[in-house]
Amino acid sequence: MKIIMDKILIVGPASQILGVRIARELGIQCINTETKTFPDGENYLRINIDDETLIEGKEVIIVQSTGPSSNGNQNTRLFELFMMIDSIKRMLASKVIVVIPYLAYARQDKIFRPGECQFADVVLRIIDSMQIDELYVVDVHAPEVLQELIVNKVVNIDSMKLLADYIKSLGASDIVVVSPDKGAVERSKAFAKHFGENVKVNVFEKKRDVKTGEITMSGNLSLKNKDVVIADDIIATGGTMANAIKISKEGGANKIYAVATHALLLQQAKYRILNAGADEIIGTDSIDNEASKVSLAKAIADYLK
Ligand code: R5P
Repeated sequence: MKIIMDKILIVGPASQILGVRIARELGIQCINTETKTFPDGENYLRINIDDETLIEGKEVIIVQSTGPSSNGNQNTRLFELFMMIDSIKRMLASKVIVVIPYLAYARQDKIFRPGECQFADVVLRIIDSMQIDELYVVDVHAPEVLQELIVNKVVNIDSMKLLADYIKSLGASDIVVVSPDKGAVERSKAFAKHFGENVKVNVFEKKRDVKTGEITMSGNLSLKNKDVVIADDIIATGGTMANAIKISKEGGANKIYAVATHALLLQQAKYRILNAGADEIIGTDSIDNEASKVSLAKAIADYLK
């Protein structure tokens, strides 16, 4: 394969698989980073190169997800991202393109209780202040947060067709899409269209206690013999999914697929979801884990070409 020389991709520590896949799709060189944590807890990152002129004048794509994982929480991931951007800018790249497959803090987009901070905006303001040229994110929790950005080009990539194609490949039939809360309705409606024009969306009602985080849910129970696809943007602790699965089971669902672009699967999420009755947990490689069954690489590479 011919390697394109004027573009380089830097694979962040949180996007090792997806980063390499995107570089392959684009046919460009891919460089890793070296990271450590100092004894005082500060993060360290360097781009793994010996000659900085390799970066000078090049178009550089940085791929770093900012989800928590076994070897880095989202704060570490964000700091690593800032460090990568700063190194690449200092080495005089001609263009800095940043891909953040999962954007941390995106759920803190509103004030729910007095005294809170709207931290999603703060994270984006920091990225903006680093004067990058283009920003690509995937299925951001509340895309409105991107509107204030001054960076020249911002793209929120949609993973729904990819996820739907995967579910269809499993042989799912007579599908109903369940939206686990009202906030996910528009997304679920758009998702349902990928399964067919007449595929129904059942909207469940979710209430989350803003102090304890506890969830209560209710919903329509007419799901007899249907294959149910429960679609959300994020699976964190699995509480939302487990509740929706339980209702779907009570409603007579046949197969149940728990689907999210970003399956973080924190704490007991896997147990909660599978034990509630899901047949499969499906996510994308915005997060590197066992649910990453759908790759975003081609979709992201197509935008970057
Ligand atoms: C919230 O509005 C999100 O869209 C998800 O529903 C939520 O993050 C899922 O969290 P958990 O898995 O902890 O219920």
